[in-house]
Amino acid sequence: MIIAVDGPAGSGKGTVTKRIEKEIGFFNLDTGATYRCVALETLRKGITLDDTEKIIEIANNIDIKIEKTENKEIILLNNEDVSKEIRTKEVTAIVSQISSIILVREKMVEVQRKLAKGKNVIVEGRDIGTVVFPNADIKIYLDASEEVRAKRRYEENIENGIDTTYEEVLENVRMRDYNDMHKKVGALKKAEDAIVIDSTDLKIEEVVEKIKDTISQNR
Ligand code: DC
Repeated sequence: MIIAVDGPAGSGKGTVTKRIEKEIGFFNLDTGATYRCVALETLRKGITLDDTEKIIEIANNIDIKIEKTENKEIILLNNEDVSKEIRTKEVTAIVSQISSIILVREKMVEVQRKLAKGKNVIVEGRDIGTVVFPNADIKIYLDASEEVRAKRRYEENIENGIDTTYEEVLENVRMRDYNDMHKKVGALKKAEDAIVIDSTDLKIEEVVEKIKDTISQNR
């Protein structure tokens, strides 16, 4: 069974899918992490964003695995645990542009399908219900206002010891929204058959309950 959860940065996808994963025992596939791995490797190799050929080469040659530990998933890039490194603000600042490169997307979609193969999965991203798994059993589109999403990311950063200001996060959210919605391929958009949940005024628990209700109605 495949549950697709799409939506913009900070809409709550990560938090709610992790909760649901724990409760129903599905494998949580965070597809943003695959693009973040390509972005991290690009930074590590000192490659500039205009060198798309080298970035595509990175995407084609890196090995990305997701391993389930007792209470969370860890992201392995060439067998190194990079779960923390892929969330730094340096990676966040360039990942949207990295994910706009069409051949990078083609490769990552292949990687994502492989990671999900043969499992019951709850997959979060931007183009899951439209491109990666257009035949997903359940499609959710999670949204929230720009300000609320920035506030959530800001608080998450503080919790994780990442030094940013709210204004900086808001600007990054706006920039990524623009890039994510205007991509030539794999742009963020609601699948026609997706159920929309606006989480602006909802608590995490309320969103989780709504999604769980939808799952039990469709199982
Ligand atoms: O969900 P996230 O913030 O970790 O995603 C990182 C970036 O990757 C984000 O700017 C959009 C992009 N992305 C994408 O283009 N397609 C996906 N399925 C998932 C993420």
